[in-house]
Amino acid sequence: MWQQCQTLFNIESGTLLWESRNFLFRKVYVADNLVYKVVDLSYDPSISLRAQDLAGEFSILKLCAEVAGVPSPIAYRKTDEFEVIVMKRLPGEPLSNLTVGWFRMFIILAKLGIILLRLSWRGISHNDIIPDNILVASDNSVSLVDFDQATRTKFLVAIVRQFFGIVKCSGRGIDILKKNYNRLQKYYSGKPFGQAGVFEKAWVTDIFQEMTELGVPLHCVILERGWMEIDTPEDYERALTDTKFVRRLVKRKTDWNKRAKFYNSLDWVNKDVLLSQVVEVAGVLKDEKVLDIGTGTGKVLIALKEQCPEADYYGVDISQSMLDKIEASYGFNLSIRAMEDLQGVKDSDFDLVTARMVFHHATNLEEAMNEVYRVLKPGGRFVLCEGNPPDRYSITFYKDMFRFKEDRITFLLDDLVNLFVRQKFREIASRTVILRDMSLNNWLENSGLPFRNVDIIKKMHYDCDVSVQEAYNMKFKNDDILMDWKFSVVLGIK
Ligand SMILES: C[S@@+](CC[C@H](N)C(=O)[O-])C[C@H]1O[C@@H](n2cnc3c(N)ncnc32)[C@H](O)[C@@H]1O
Repeated sequence: MWQQCQTLFNIESGTLLWESRNFLFRKVYVADNLVYKVVDLSYDPSISLRAQDLAGEFSILKLCAEVAGVPSPIAYRKTDEFEVIVMKRLPGEPLSNLTVGWFRMFIILAKLGIILLRLSWRGISHNDIIPDNILVASDNSVSLVDFDQATRTKFLVAIVRQFFGIVKCSGRGIDILKKNYNRLQKYYSGKPFGQAGVFEKAWVTDIFQEMTELGVPLHCVILERGWMEIDTPEDYERALTDTKFVRRLVKRKTDWNKRAKFYNSLDWVNKDVLLSQVVEVAGVLKDEKVLDIGTGTGKVLIALKEQCPEADYYGVDISQSMLDKIEASYGFNLSIRAMEDLQGVKDSDFDLVTARMVFHHATNLEEAMNEVYRVLKPGGRFVLCEGNPPDRYSITFYKDMFRFKEDRITFLLDDLVNLFVRQKFREIASRTVILRDMSLNNWLENSGLPFRNVDIIKKMHYDCDVSVQEAYNMKFKNDDILMDWKFSVVLGIK
């Protein structure tokens, strides 16, 4: 093949510069300061591994002809037996053959970055930035070669493709990857694989390439932020103990200032089915004095007032941002107070105390219950509303999942009733309310949580046990999950 090529281009001699370890029908020769990339057309099973054949590579090179550090294309020829592109030879050694200090590496990467930016500007994405393809000369000039994986695209897409690449696997994806790794290891251990001399040093991209060839579907996923590079077992150990990383991963302290912005957009907050049950159980009467604890954006107070405008309404909360969402025209008496210490509220002052979705935030449940009891008149009513796991078998999932949302107490109906019993409330009664088809996306998007936590919680829903999915009656709709959520409303009399 090379001899025919020599005749075609009238070359006296040439030296073999590179040949693929796996694909011997693909070689690169140098003669007279020109590089000849030659492919034997009689047998090139690797053609499907490449984004471009030689003709495509040649036309891409023509598009970036003025970019310094990219080979200038001279000629393209095709015969019945072989195909060849001729390019100007660029100075330097592949980065993979060099040992470079961090300072030199910094210069090399900076120069490479400039080449990639220039390519991106022309809408060209190289797609194969590996040390073998980066040439570094003694004067530190840098060149990028081998454009057979290059593609034409838009500027922004090219930027993303040049600079980012990361793998995201579901639990099942990891199993598939492990199985394929073990399969390949059996055959290639100690032998060359892809671009590596031995399988043990193979590029993970070559493993993916092989898997794609086998028909294993791989998809693009967008990772918006928050990742850690784990290349080695040491990196993995570090990731496990890097508390800063783990803390970033699990941010749980609820930031009510942040949550206040989105709170009223939460579907469950506005659901009449739940609010009307709280209102019905509360049964407010004319001229009664009502206190709503952890009133937030005032949803419960508003619903109660609609039912009975002639009562006197008070609300307390620890977050001014949440209280600021309540229109002054409602005429509620609002103040900043923690449920564990209702300082300034007189003993036996209220006919009714309500608390919806607040008690799971209590730092001290006993003190919170003591305070409710203290401020209620004898014969006064306490209405407590809380969310529950859908059944006992889902408690572990519920607790694990909420670990990524906030520090919270998990209540089953029994736990709530026991709070009332311990506090010596009488005539305890309860109702269960199910909110059907609640959107997981709506909940997470309006939770004020960091993206990473949202991502983890979402994934936990997709990966959870079938029994949990059934308990929540999960329906998978496009990118969302519709679920049935369980709430308890408990009433007790002082
Ligand atoms: C999930 S929201 C519920 C708001 C309202 N009750 C509702 O049903 O729409 C929880 C509210 O409890 C408040 N909160 C959290 N911890 C509290 C505490 N220790 N004392 C009083 N309020 C608290 C938060 O600021 C927030 O407004």
